[in-house]
Amino acid sequence: MTPKAERAETTRQADLLERAGRYLAGGGLGLFVLPPEVNLVIAEGRGSHVTTVDGRDYIDYHLGSGPALLGHGHPEIVAAVQRQVPKGSTYYFLNEPVIRLAERMVEAIPCADQVHFTGSGTEATFFAMRLARGATGRSKILKFEGGWHGMNDYALWGTVPKRPSPYPNAEPDSIGIPEVLRGQVLVAPFNDAARAVEIIRQNAHELAAVIVEPLQRVLQPVPGFLEAVREAATRAGSVLIFDEIVTGFRIAWGGAQERYGVVPDVATYGKAMSGGFPMAAIAGRSEIMKHFDARRTERPRLVWASGTLNGNPVSATAGLAALDILSRPGAYEHFHKIGGRLRREIEALGARHGFAVQAPGEDAVFGVRFTARKPLRNWEDLLTSDTQLNLRWSTELLTRGILVNPNEKFYLSLAHTDADVDRTLEACDQAFAAIKR
Ligand SMILES: Cc1ncc(COP(=O)(O)O)c(C=O)c1O
Repeated sequence: MTPKAERAETTRQADLLERAGRYLAGGGLGLFVLPPEVNLVIAEGRGSHVTTVDGRDYIDYHLGSGPALLGHGHPEIVAAVQRQVPKGSTYYFLNEPVIRLAERMVEAIPCADQVHFTGSGTEATFFAMRLARGATGRSKILKFEGGWHGMNDYALWGTVPKRPSPYPNAEPDSIGIPEVLRGQVLVAPFNDAARAVEIIRQNAHELAAVIVEPLQRVLQPVPGFLEAVREAATRAGSVLIFDEIVTGFRIAWGGAQERYGVVPDVATYGKAMSGGFPMAAIAGRSEIMKHFDARRTERPRLVWASGTLNGNPVSATAGLAALDILSRPGAYEHFHKIGGRLRREIEALGARHGFAVQAPGEDAVFGVRFTARKPLRNWEDLLTSDTQLNLRWSTELLTRGILVNPNEKFYLSLAHTDADVDRTLEACDQAFAAIKR
């Protein structure tokens, strides 16, 4: 067969995947690549569904790793963006949508007096930590084992270790992290208030910030944990940073700060805040944000944070439309109704098939973990989950038209319907049966 004839026999998707393997580093767009037998190329997303280039339909529970909280191509976001695009897509200087978005965020976010925009979540956490170092004149950062703050050099310590770390020391997750940062990033187990408070106390004079995902991946904070960290950070004079890049505008209008009733000094936002367009932000109290402000801070104390695409008017326009929709009555009830049902019934179906399965997290974003360990409180607990079994189950779901990222999260959107959940639960049932065989 000639190469041309061979190509005619392959599907468009198989052809594109082959080219992706050749031209993209790792064959994908980052760390997460679907197993080859279920890998796909998306042509279009509408509401809670995506369609591949071969015309196959999936119910999407990954939502672009969270940003499409309203579903794909929400008509109000599309219309707003279409009005903005002909007026230009980037200016560097101030524009009305970004000023209005900052105002809207300050109204919604408990800790926010002011906002600074960035291009990605990785930049937001990176600059938030620099802000804390600038504001305190100290250099160490405490994070929590298993906590994910993006790809910057300070974030990638103790994120996915194979075994618990020798706290407060941890290993970098990636090669290429400067060795000089060892000892600058401390790590504690999530949900262990006593240990966190002790590490904060022992390092008080050097600790610039504590950064925490208040809902750490899929782990809820136990009562009292965030409160104890808040109090210890205040006592040490360290900045408390909530990484709300997942939780912001998702688990409540006021994010984790509202849901769990603890207010940090600074919070990082991303994903849902810009309606599926690239943008992220740092929000915080005025006396800390002033270190970004050349009008209020002498040059030697000024924290540098800038970026060509910061405050992009198209992303800001999408964000304003998204926040308008989310602020309407019923949005968060929808996540509880749809997501709550999915979580309960996945656990029940798993049990019926004889698996110890849990769906920890919040209704708008949760995980499915194959483990009998209960309750799931920290990374060590999550290490008991059977990731191979989860991969097999997720692969079965993918073959049945349910788009999930194995061993990651289920993200719910405003566009998911009861009918989607019915079809998903049927697929889950079949997937449990298949992995039992
Ligand atoms: C909690 C959290 N922080 C930070 C990031 C990094 O954001 P980005 O991928 O936009 O760089 C992520 C990304 O998944 C995240 O989940």
